[in-house]
Amino acid sequence: MCGICSAIGNFNEIFDVIERLRKLEYRGYDSSGIAYKENNNLEVVKSVGQIANLEKRIGRNLSSQIVIGHTRWATHGKVSEENAHPHMSANGEFALVHNGIIENYEDLKKIFLSDVCLNSQTDTEVFVNLIARQKGPVINKLIEACNLVKGSFAVAMLEKNSNKIYLAKRKSPLMVAQNENGCMAASDLSVFVGKFEKCYIMEDDEFAVMSEKNIVFFDKSGKKIKKNAVLINNFDFCDENLNEEYFMLKEIKEQAIVLKRTYFKYFSENTLSEAEISKIKKYKSFHFIACGTAYHSGLMGARYIQQFCKKECKVSIASEFRYDNNVLNKNCLYVFVSQSGETADTIACANLIKEKGFDVMCVTNVPYCSLNKLADIILPTFAGREVAVASTKAYVAQVFTLLILAIKLSKNLELQESLKKFVLSFDILQLDDALLKFLYQFNNIFYIGREQDYVASLEGALKMKEIAYINCIGLAGGELKHGTLALIDENSLVIAISTQKKLKEKMESNIQEVKARGGKILLVSNFEHSVEVDHFLQLPEFEEFLMPIVSITALQLMAFHYAVELGYNPDKPRNLAKSVTVE
Ligand code: G6P
Repeated sequence: MCGICSAIGNFNEIFDVIERLRKLEYRGYDSSGIAYKENNNLEVVKSVGQIANLEKRIGRNLSSQIVIGHTRWATHGKVSEENAHPHMSANGEFALVHNGIIENYEDLKKIFLSDVCLNSQTDTEVFVNLIARQKGPVINKLIEACNLVKGSFAVAMLEKNSNKIYLAKRKSPLMVAQNENGCMAASDLSVFVGKFEKCYIMEDDEFAVMSEKNIVFFDKSGKKIKKNAVLINNFDFCDENLNEEYFMLKEIKEQAIVLKRTYFKYFSENTLSEAEISKIKKYKSFHFIACGTAYHSGLMGARYIQQFCKKECKVSIASEFRYDNNVLNKNCLYVFVSQSGETADTIACANLIKEKGFDVMCVTNVPYCSLNKLADIILPTFAGREVAVASTKAYVAQVFTLLILAIKLSKNLELQESLKKFVLSFDILQLDDALLKFLYQFNNIFYIGREQDYVASLEGALKMKEIAYINCIGLAGGELKHGTLALIDENSLVIAISTQKKLKEKMESNIQEVKARGGKILLVSNFEHSVEVDHFLQLPEFEEFLMPIVSITALQLMAFHYAVELGYNPDKPRNLAKSVTVE
């Protein structure tokens, strides 16, 4: 993973780069660092932990007009200052920041660098030394080294004697922007907001050299190329200000706005054209492929398409799909769901489908993301930028967008009317202290539900694991007796999600099974049940197919409050990153 921000300009760029690196902390926050030019020397400052630590180390007097910066999510080598980026070449001439993985770095080390003493365990230090070993002008050295490398990279590099920043990209995102005061390169668009209006999205195996006044692009043969700039839509980032103590809470609360915005975008602005709808309708089946929370959205999307369009659907975890013996089908539309559009396993599957000549639809939240480049059809979600690592509003936006897709395909005007009523009246519920106090007694939690509530139970459990570090599982209510019941005792909490009246009795049986073993029950439902429970969270009543959006909000809030209660920062859970660009 990791994030890059690098700048060259006619001001002191150090503090601007550090400030903007904060926007990339969602890509990793194990360590951070900068390299800058001072006279004709390259200087490096690094620190373990979040960017605030780096800032403390830098002090206020440092100044430079050329800086490369990095925030790290450790892949090769433990979290330490030696392994933090930037990495210097042994001859002291190059400093490099890198996002991605050099898969053949052990081989490269043996073949080309056996005489070099490396200071870290990273693939990046191998990369920078490999560059230093190449011949010719700096840009040629970079291109040559990239030709030897297998894997993924977005890099920014300084060379001791030139007032330039050198860039290269393959599989990891990198974009560059320019204004009258200088140029900047970064891992995502949000970094440019407020400073630049336009930017250039680099493609795989493209290279660039940024100087104070211009950016020159090259292809992998070293030939100069022209690129078109794209406008940065500030709207996509307009809700970034944090009024809550944590981004996660802010993002959960934003879900009401996200639903209204999504409805408006699809029904008033017709984000999905009639031509696209007709094209999608021609497919006989749909196969959803995604990772993490987005996989759960895929499960919901598949349910909606089956329910309202009566088309066959499959759902796969991207990292599994990649290595399965899949039987592909030209009558099937392959749907990739991803908040970031940068998840390596998801992209790899989309590439696989494209290579075989089949069609791809991408449901993504970030404009210009890598996944969209592979798409035959793009279904944007309008969650706005999501900062907290654990996905909340993006999940709701994905589920709602897929529901809209199903409704548009089915041309059911009654359902559309229900959606409208729903977005106008949906509001975020509040959890009372009694419920939270009850919840905090348990560190052995099971989530159960059936059908759409089963998906909610998977996603609810994932939230709790991610941010409160509680070992819990989500499972289908009917599966309880096939194994997990063996774990239930008086110290267990079972959160039963029950929003479908047709399955009320079945859920009640599951609740009884738990009670008979001494387990405690927190029932999350929009209607009364005839079984006695330890705590009941009453959800507002909406049509059944809308309840997954309502119930998940409650589960997100439970995880959030529990994490805070335990003293954890829910925005930055340990060992995780928001955008997983490694396979
Ligand atoms: C990471 C994030 C999750 C996210 C998953 C898939 O694990 O922490 O919140 O659901 O990646 O990410 P994507 O951007 O593809 O939706």
